[in-house]
Amino acid sequence: MQEFAEFESLLERPLDQKNVEFQRQGRLKHLISASQLTIPLLEKLCHSADMIRKMNRNPSGNQRLRQLLAHKRAMLYFTQPSTRTFLSFMAACQILGLTCNEVRDPKTSSEVKRESRMDSIRMFSSYFDVIIMRSQIGNFAECCAYLMNDLENQERRSVPIVNAGAGSDEHPTQALLDMYTIIRTFDFDQSSAERASRLDQLREQYPGLTPGPAGKTYAFVGDIGRGRTVRSLATVLAQYPDVRMFFVSPDHEVLNLDAELKDYLKRSGVMVEEFQSLDAEFNGQSLLGQVDCLYMTRIQREHNSEQAESEIAAIDLEPFRLTVERVAQLKTYTPILHPFPRDSVVGEIPTEIDSDSRAMYFRQARNGMWARAALLVHLFDAADTLYLAYRDVMPARG
Ligand code: NCD
Repeated sequence: MQEFAEFESLLERPLDQKNVEFQRQGRLKHLISASQLTIPLLEKLCHSADMIRKMNRNPSGNQRLRQLLAHKRAMLYFTQPSTRTFLSFMAACQILGLTCNEVRDPKTSSEVKRESRMDSIRMFSSYFDVIIMRSQIGNFAECCAYLMNDLENQERRSVPIVNAGAGSDEHPTQALLDMYTIIRTFDFDQSSAERASRLDQLREQYPGLTPGPAGKTYAFVGDIGRGRTVRSLATVLAQYPDVRMFFVSPDHEVLNLDAELKDYLKRSGVMVEEFQSLDAEFNGQSLLGQVDCLYMTRIQREHNSEQAESEIAAIDLEPFRLTVERVAQLKTYTPILHPFPRDSVVGEIPTEIDSDSRAMYFRQARNGMWARAALLVHLFDAADTLYLAYRDVMPARG
């Protein structure tokens, strides 16, 4: 795209080279790619998210949270449809006292007067302290981060950029909340008698079960090729040792696991297997019975070309839909996740599954609020202040 031409050579570099420029002194400066979510950073963010979640339940905790970033303002620039990401970021801002504003329809901004997107972003950075953005253009957020870095180098005003969904490429904050949900599910904190005894109970049936995301089998189901949430979450999970991933999608070139992600996962030591039905078997046993975490997704019809539209319409999606019988094959602890929205016509997760104790998708969405608030605290270097406030207002345990 013409207006990003000056950043083209930067976009082509390997991720680890780029990521150095999106951080400062061990802290994120911008969040552009899920590959920035290292295990130590995830641990810090999950710890902050836990504190925010617990403080929010208590009136004095709630009040202290609202003072934490009351001096900051956020711009939510969402030119692609969004419900959960937009609203959970807005709620996260409200919890922390940040004022937020939004542009969702570029027709209401000066883009109609042919203002370039880059000028719009620079204007937002004049009025706000962070820009949280979603766009159908894959590398727009990344280019905005380069623009901010250039401004910083010229000692001009520069603010953090948060990628809240970029084309079909990346959705790092969804990966963050998915990881928060997975980490909470497999926490089994030994300092909590209730969590520790749950692990003991589960181990009677599943002796190999260990705490934490490592050593587990993750199944991703649906639109693997175009689901940015799948790409981002798989990238983060690949950092943990001894991880196995099952990808279950209809056999169509745009829906299958793409070669680039597959290669990345294999190079990271992940054992990757691909299937074309939830009823498939692996090593002579049902696939579903071997899964520790099930990640469902919808078919992303909005990305269909005309040709793909008719080809995909002809695919029988029944093998990729959950049913009560299929859920019954899962281990008793396996969380069922979905980034949502679910497709109410295809019904990859019918509502009858919602009452199953393993259905975690609504809790997962709520976790988005805590995880995104933790990210804002991190970006504004307020984690220590959060911790002090937590110690002040929360009754000591024990
Ligand atoms: C996802 C997205 O936008 O990529 N939704 C979300 O942010 N929770 C998934 C989707 O649209 O299918």
